[in-house]
Amino acid sequence: MILKEYLAARIARVEAALERWVPAETVPPQTIHRAMRYSLFAGGKRIRPVLCIGAAEALGSTPHGIEDAACTLEMIHTYSLIHDDLPALDNDDLRRGRPTNHVVFGEAMAILAGDSLLTLAFEVLGKLPRADDITRARLVAELATASGTVGGMIGGQVHDIEGERQTPTAELLEAIHRAKTGALLRASVRMGAIYAGATPDQLDALSRYGEHTGLAFQIVDDILDVEESSETLGKTAGKDQAQQKITFPAVYGLAQSKVMAEQERLAAHRALEPFGEAAAPLAELADFIVKRKA
Ligand code: IPE
Ligand code: IPE
Ligand code: MG
Ligand code: MG
Ligand code: MG
Repeated sequence: MILKEYLAARIARVEAALERWVPAETVPPQTIHRAMRYSLFAGGKRIRPVLCIGAAEALGSTPHGIEDAACTLEMIHTYSLIHDDLPALDNDDLRRGRPTNHVVFGEAMAILAGDSLLTLAFEVLGKLPRADDITRARLVAELATASGTVGGMIGGQVHDIEGERQTPTAELLEAIHRAKTGALLRASVRMGAIYAGATPDQLDALSRYGEHTGLAFQIVDDILDVEESSETLGKTAGKDQAQQKITFPAVYGLAQSKVMAEQERLAAHRALEPFGEAAAPLAELADFIVKRKA
């Protein structure tokens, strides 16, 4: 399999779904739609929606309309980035290679653009054209829990911000990373599995894959913040140390962090064993997540 072609084909479906669901810039009030689209269509890697589609494919199916469910993960993710960059949070001025949302549209509109992407994600899940009501409800619950305060994205962001003034410990570090990033990556995989009608055993195995991949993802995000330039990353490098964030390199050092990312990658591969060849793309996605440079 050539990962580049695999990614391009799935990303095209996700882009088309986003294009359909997000109101055009000409729809009033135009400012908010411009702000939403500015961050959404700025060249993100689309890892979460691709994981969602890949999980459905690992079960041997390519269910119609999965890109509609998958694109809601990108809406939540982009909202979390817009808010993560706000002056009250990480205070960043570069994202996806562009000035951050609040720099261009002002803080009020950036907050509202995040809010509206969050709301739109659930509107789309509620209206999913090709899913039954039970599947819609399960997807809503999955995405809401992963984005929420208990072990979810917001909970992780709270620990991350409060952690700036706390002693970095291994326990706090893992709690932050599993929640702020891991939960949404795990949910990406689970939502694809749910959409495709996974059995409980299949869902468990794919959840394990999602957890290991999710943790690997944030370990690598921390490593890249130290090793790469702002130009390569499309976001401000060296920010974690400047803000005294609790990161893998801060707690374990760079070399050990790389070993740990590799361990998570291998554990992710092991979780895919029951699925055989159908899970080859998910295995390669885990490799890509660990080996990426941005
Ligand atoms: C960056 O996520 C923020 C984290 C959750 C660590 P990505 O690296 O997936 O960012 P994009 O979507 O490609 O811009
Ligand atoms: C952000 O983590 C996680 C979320 C947006 C939920 P970071 O603060 O490490 O992300 P970057 O490095 O700014 O992309
Ligand atoms: Mg942050
Ligand atoms: Mg940040
Ligand atoms: Mg980071």
